[in-house]
Amino acid sequence: MIQDFKGKTAVLTGAGSGFGLECARIGAARGMNLVLVDVQQDALDKAQAEMEAAGVQVLARKVDVADAGQMAQLAADVKARFGAPHFVFNNAGVGAGGLVWENTVADWEWVLGVDLWGVIHGVRLFTPMMLEAAAADPNYRGHITNTASMAGLLTPPNMGIYNAAKAAVVSLTETLYQDLNLVTDQIGASLLCPYFVPTGITSSERNRPNAPKESELTKSQLIGQAMSNKAVSSGKITAQEVANKVFDAITANQFYVFSHPKALGNVRARMENIVSIVNPSDPFHERPEIGQKLRAQLRG
Ligand SMILES: NC(=O)c1ccc[n+]([C@@H]2O[C@H](COP(=O)([O-])OP(=O)(O)OC[C@H]3O[C@@H](n4cnc5c(N)ncnc54)[C@H](O)[C@@H]3O)[C@@H](O)[C@H]2O)c1
Repeated sequence: MIQDFKGKTAVLTGAGSGFGLECARIGAARGMNLVLVDVQQDALDKAQAEMEAAGVQVLARKVDVADAGQMAQLAADVKARFGAPHFVFNNAGVGAGGLVWENTVADWEWVLGVDLWGVIHGVRLFTPMMLEAAAADPNYRGHITNTASMAGLLTPPNMGIYNAAKAAVVSLTETLYQDLNLVTDQIGASLLCPYFVPTGITSSERNRPNAPKESELTKSQLIGQAMSNKAVSSGKITAQEVANKVFDAITANQFYVFSHPKALGNVRARMENIVSIVNPSDPFHERPEIGQKLRAQLRG
């Protein structure tokens, strides 16, 4: 459990916007060295200027988290500049929707690349460095937080590509927690599962290489985009509040971090279906009008 953050090093992916940026702000306020990672140069430059103005040391790197080579270079740069990090936030992610059979190979590669492989690389490259630091210093404490989503626990329809990536992050991170407990008491792990929180996630395509034109999207993809725009933009919890929860979870060594604990009833219902061998419930049972509209749009 990290208790004192001053002078410790945080690596944050997706630091140019949303949860990554808000966590960087908290890290800066607590006097951490910050490694800011993002694929969007202008957002990264802005974040770097803001954090440097706050008086902390910053290493900013334009990196595509899906790229093994770029991530390996990042890890080497972090080690050279600050040594092993104390907090790693594998958070960069992109959203995409549509009926699961309509996504192209390029859609799958993009979403799994950023949302899953980004986390895999972060875990693969930074955990050994942190374990080495822990072995060398009994006072070293580290923490790894991976961002999944409630989508990884709820399998909402018309966004299977995102659900699959996030479910894999849930599984990977629970296993990371267990694996760390086998070998050390000095490094903790958390899983962040946000629900709908207003951030830049609804315009994820801004950072997609060779993004398809709107005219190339299928009907279900356009409907999925409109629905997620509406849900995310009407979210009442802020990214800053979520970032506070991320830091609270580090100090409390709390694994599960939820932006909307009230939405967990749906997770319970899903788990009960599984253990009772009952078919998945209607995901719209609380808001049947949304389900009716979606069915009508897709069938019409
Ligand atoms: N906002 C929500 O409602 C919500 C809900 C559930 C999960 N999440 C997850 O939260 C995480 C953060 O997203 P956010 O909501 O802050 O969105 P955001 O778009 O505001 O921030 C994501 C950041 O990741 C960066 N990024 C995108 N592709 C990248 C790549 N290949 N390499 C490096 N950086 C890349 C973007 O440039 C952006 O700065 C994501 O994993 C997302 O899936 C968000």
